[in-house]
Amino acid sequence: MTSAKKIMVSGIQPTNKLTLGNYLGALKNWVRLQNEYECYFFAVDLHAITSRQEPKELADNTLFALATYLAAGINLDHATIFAQSHVRQHAELAWVLNCFSYMGELGRMTQFKDKSSRAGETIPVGLFTYPVLMAADILLYQTDLVPVGADQKQHLELTRDVAIRMNNIYGPLFKVPEPYIPKVGARIMDLQDPESKMSKSVSSELGAVFLSDPPKEIEKKFKRAVTDSGAEVTYAPEKPGIRNLLDIQSAITGRSIDDLVKSYSGKMYGHLKVETATIVSDELRPLQERTQQYLADKGELQRILREGAARAATKAEATLKAVYGAIGFAPY
Ligand code: TYM
Repeated sequence: MTSAKKIMVSGIQPTNKLTLGNYLGALKNWVRLQNEYECYFFAVDLHAITSRQEPKELADNTLFALATYLAAGINLDHATIFAQSHVRQHAELAWVLNCFSYMGELGRMTQFKDKSSRAGETIPVGLFTYPVLMAADILLYQTDLVPVGADQKQHLELTRDVAIRMNNIYGPLFKVPEPYIPKVGARIMDLQDPESKMSKSVSSELGAVFLSDPPKEIEKKFKRAVTDSGAEVTYAPEKPGIRNLLDIQSAITGRSIDDLVKSYSGKMYGHLKVETATIVSDELRPLQERTQQYLADKGELQRILREGAARAATKAEATLKAVYGAIGFAPY
């Protein structure tokens, strides 16, 4: 890895198993873009505890997420992978950034509004400050590009605002990062409720496709996918269910939406559902096999993560030290 390369950073929360949305909105693009960047990809376990986690499951899901990164084709020649909690600088910079972020701007985050409305009376403070931790994740590495799904765009804007604010006060501490949001696949919708995003937590059992789902399960979920009452396969605003299936196919195969729509002329919704299921199963099968191979050798996986955390910490420490010096903490 040479430091002349631009820097790319991204992460996924290891809550529950990863979804097809995580894969198409984020992970698949990391793999596609990685060769041109020096990359840092992590499982954001500190973010995961903004909702209550069963300890054993959190640890297992963290390893599962990182094994999935490798199985999807993340190449250790280009990328450093690790668990966020193993690199203490993330939490440390987050504290500093908390002191330079405003209640008003965090209160406007739509993801906070959605999640807190579901949390009832006891909303953890961490859910509110979560975008600040995400800003720390990104700014620590002097990041150029952050490949994410559309739901993270607002968090990226906040990251940029905080970086610019601190650079204006103290001089250039942080690179101001750009988001990379794919044209297709940035917002995969719930199969049962195609007006809502597919998600690890809120989807009904049938609404989300998990990366660990066996082919039978995938077929069942797509066959039961909610569509409208029409018959013709078109890419139209009033057909969110059909659009979602076309988006999924396009994001996996690289075929254009126009091309796909033409190929379904004269065919029924049922064809589209079954063929989408097959395309998804074919994409996930090798990914699942390789994930199991990485998980079967926990010792090797843990070695990769230890090395990753050490490399990431060295990079992160340079930024943190500059920040601590700039804001006036006594030298250490
Ligand atoms: P998370 O864990 O909710 O999602 C991980 C990635 O998957 C994308 N994604 C989707 N893309 C398309 N369709 C969907 N239905 C869908 N659901 C999720 C997300 O946009 C994201 O790219 N806060 C972040 C994780 C994070 C992070 C970071 C990302 C923490 N620190 C630093 C980038 C850089 C989150 O909760 O993503």
